[in-house]
Amino acid sequence: MRFLLTLATAALSLLPVHAAKEVFAHYIVGNAPELSQADWEDDIQLAQDVLIDAFVLNIASQDPNNAESLENAFAAANSKNFKLFFSFDYLAQGPWPKDQVISLIQMYGNNPAYFKHDGSKPFVSTFEGPDSAGDWPEIKATTGCFFVPDWSSLGPSGAVQRAGDTIDGLFSFDAWPTGSANITTDQDFAFKTALSGKSYMMPVSPWFYTNLPGFNKNWMWRGDELWDRRWEQVLEVQPDFVEILTWNDYGESHYIGPVRQKELGLFAAAAAPINYVENISHDGWRKLLPYYISQYKNGGANVTEEAAVVSYRSNPSTACLTGGTTGGNKLFGETEVPPEQLVDDNVFYSVLLNSSEDVTVTVSIGGQSQQGYFSSPPAGGDGSSGVYQGSVPFGFRRGNVVVTVARGGTTIAEVQGGPSISTLCINGVQNWNAAAISS
Ligand SMILES: *[C@@H]1O[C@H](CO)[C@@H](O)[C@H](O)[C@H]1NC(C)=O
Ligand SMILES: *[C@@H]1O[C@H](CO)[C@@H](O)[C@H](O)[C@H]1NC(C)=O
Ligand SMILES: *[C@@H]1O[C@H](CO)[C@@H](O)[C@H](O)[C@H]1NC(C)=O
Ligand SMILES: *[C@@H]1O[C@H](CO)[C@@H](O)[C@H](O)[C@H]1NC(C)=O
Repeated sequence: MRFLLTLATAALSLLPVHAAKEVFAHYIVGNAPELSQADWEDDIQLAQDVLIDAFVLNIASQDPNNAESLENAFAAANSKNFKLFFSFDYLAQGPWPKDQVISLIQMYGNNPAYFKHDGSKPFVSTFEGPDSAGDWPEIKATTGCFFVPDWSSLGPSGAVQRAGDTIDGLFSFDAWPTGSANITTDQDFAFKTALSGKSYMMPVSPWFYTNLPGFNKNWMWRGDELWDRRWEQVLEVQPDFVEILTWNDYGESHYIGPVRQKELGLFAAAAAPINYVENISHDGWRKLLPYYISQYKNGGANVTEEAAVVSYRSNPSTACLTGGTTGGNKLFGETEVPPEQLVDDNVFYSVLLNSSEDVTVTVSIGGQSQQGYFSSPPAGGDGSSGVYQGSVPFGFRRGNVVVTVARGGTTIAEVQGGPSISTLCINGVQNWNAAAISS
């Protein structure tokens, strides 16, 4: 018996470092000061429903609400048997002092709800902060953390060089395409190569649009078809971890969590010309996550429920004033273009099917129906099981959107209840955010 136990322990310690594949979602604690423990529990339940392993708690230094928010978050996570870990944000309100980083990890790192790599080392990430790289040898020595920062501003090899031996891996924030090109995996593979065996955490995001003059932010990146394409790329890249950007970053329109009025204070605080999130649900982007995450973790997945996800912007792209929003941002070395060049005025659909045989898609806008097609079959090819994608232009149609998927004339999925397509603009300004709804 004793011998067997020893053997088992030895086998455990020989497990490859990258055995676990985990999927996390970035959570902006700064948007959550009004959330109760019950609200946190709701968010956690929604995340658990779609197989997310943990929330990555983005915390800004000097945020006076951190202490109370973290108490609520950890109480909720413990009651739901969920996991959380910290991402220290070095940009939102300046760099974190080293001693505060150490004391927060010491305060929560042993909490049962704190996510530990390989069951033992508290997982810690950052949003930027490469200028504080010199703090981390001591932080690691003191806390024993597993350190996977995002220092994307330096690029893959720059970040690895800056890190020296301190890091256990890197996270990339490069989740959006440049210009009208499709997002590629080039940067992901560049990170993997530069890391030469250390862990890579890959970003996956559905959208990007921000118009917050008070924070000097006003640009968008192309999000059409991004979500599904990126999950396909996860299968190709096989990262050690995936981090979804984000659960609740409303200001940048890449939330996949629910929209709560009490988290939308930033639109007034940053003098936004429109509230581009109120009434714009992204719940649909969670619908296929159990399928995508199972594929990533298990190398394949069975279709347990055929389902459809539909996304679209509600304003045709030239219906309203741009709001000064640029397509792309020269701060990232990009050529800025008019935003309408980066989006299609289409209703996009992604349909999870066990087979496409005899399947039809009908897109109705304002009661006018049009037959849809699948332009992009799953990796297994046309007819195989998986996610089929396509879109149809709004054209001159306006009004309520209903997408119906049928097999042999029998409806298998119907999607409706999103915003109407309309040339009525809130405050005359274009809303570049898209709604995502599902069956
Ligand atoms: C992006 O990918 C889609 C589908 O794979 C393709 O039809 C389209 O031409 C691509 N766009 C660009 C700019 O490469
Ligand atoms: C959201 O919908 C409500 C109810 O229809 C409406 O009163 C409100 O003005 C809408 N908000 C925005 C920003 O469009
Ligand atoms: C799919 O279902 C079949 C039959 O139940 C099972 O044998 C197979 O392991 C499942 N595949 C995956 C990837 O779960
Ligand atoms: C696919 O799913 C539909 C609806 O659940 C079912 O009727 C059909 O038999 C399934 N087809 C295959 C090939 O599994």
